Amino acid sequence: MIRQLPPEVADAIAAGEVVERPASVVKELVENSLDAGARRVSIEVRGAGRGLIRVADDGEGIPTDQLALAFLRHATSKVQRLEDLAAIGTLGFRGEALASIAAVSEVDCRTRGAQIRLRAGALVDEGAAAPTPGTVIEVRDLFGNTPARLKFLKSDATENGAANQVVRTYAVLRPDVRFELVLDGRRALATAGDADRRAALGAVLGAQVAEAMLPVEAEGVRGMVSEPRLSRGSREAIVLAVNSRPVASHRLQHALEQAYLGRLERGRYPVAVLDLTLPAAEVDVNVAAADGGRGSRAAYQ
Ligand SMILES: Nc1ncnc2c1ncn2[C@@H]1O[C@H](COP(=O)(O)OP(=O)(O)OP(=O)(O)O)[C@@H](O)[C@H]1O
Ligand SMILES: [Mg+2]
Repeated sequence: MIRQLPPEVADAIAAGEVVERPASVVKELVENSLDAGARRVSIEVRGAGRGLIRVADDGEGIPTDQLALAFLRHATSKVQRLEDLAAIGTLGFRGEALASIAAVSEVDCRTRGAQIRLRAGALVDEGAAAPTPGTVIEVRDLFGNTPARLKFLKSDATENGAANQVVRTYAVLRPDVRFELVLDGRRALATAGDADRRAALGAVLGAQVAEAMLPVEAEGVRGMVSEPRLSRGSREAIVLAVNSRPVASHRLQHALEQAYLGRLERGRYPVAVLDLTLPAAEVDVNVAAADGGRGSRAAYQ
């Protein structure tokens, strides 16, 4: 028997695709903050993301009359017409992240003197709040209504590590933005946001790494790569991006490794942050994600 799914079932399935684990929530909220032009993004995670995920930014905020709308599926300020899809200049564009997060948690959002609270996708409360610059989103009881998903979460250390990796990636890609990550009350990461990529790399990977990095400033690509005296036993310290959007690309990866051929032993990898600049119309954002989440089929092959 073929039946069209009731909306709450369809929503839960769609939410599962966006929000796999606490780190997905961190990624979506941080991307929203960056899209809002934030110069400061503070992330707090408690209980490996099951307790609290809080992201505060100083971006443009959400107009009060659109706050409830922002949590509806396919509600976005970033795409209006079909043609817009051909040249996406923002990290988000699907208009589904907030709806998906709200479907599987309790969400509080404060922005521009208004606030809203949703639980399992349903509106709980809406009203005025003390005006704050930017936007604060708090996510509690993640996967509380989807026990199967909760069961699949890994250890606290692994989930915290994944959230940390999301923030580290954006911190080195956007040295112009001040990032702070606090895990269970402990400051895990803080960058200055002064546009100094070497300093951002130092904050993320340590001063020794920062010292051994060489700047890359060429037509269409910028970033930093390590001197051959510095290497890693895995690719974990390689961040590749197109228009400051992290990407998974075997070809880019291969090109980088070719450049070190004969300089690094087998099984050793450089530390690198490479951000390619391409006209937005030449990028298919649907296949560009580097996190194994939405659109993880490798792009730019
Ligand atoms: N931190 C924020 N500051 C300002 N506006 C925000 C913020 N977070 C969300 N918004 C607004 O809410 C809308 C919905 O956000 P949501 O993340 O659900 O969709 P999106 O970013 O447009 O697309 P995607 O689903 O691909 O992330 C955004 O288009 C944006 O207008
Ligand atoms: Mg978004």
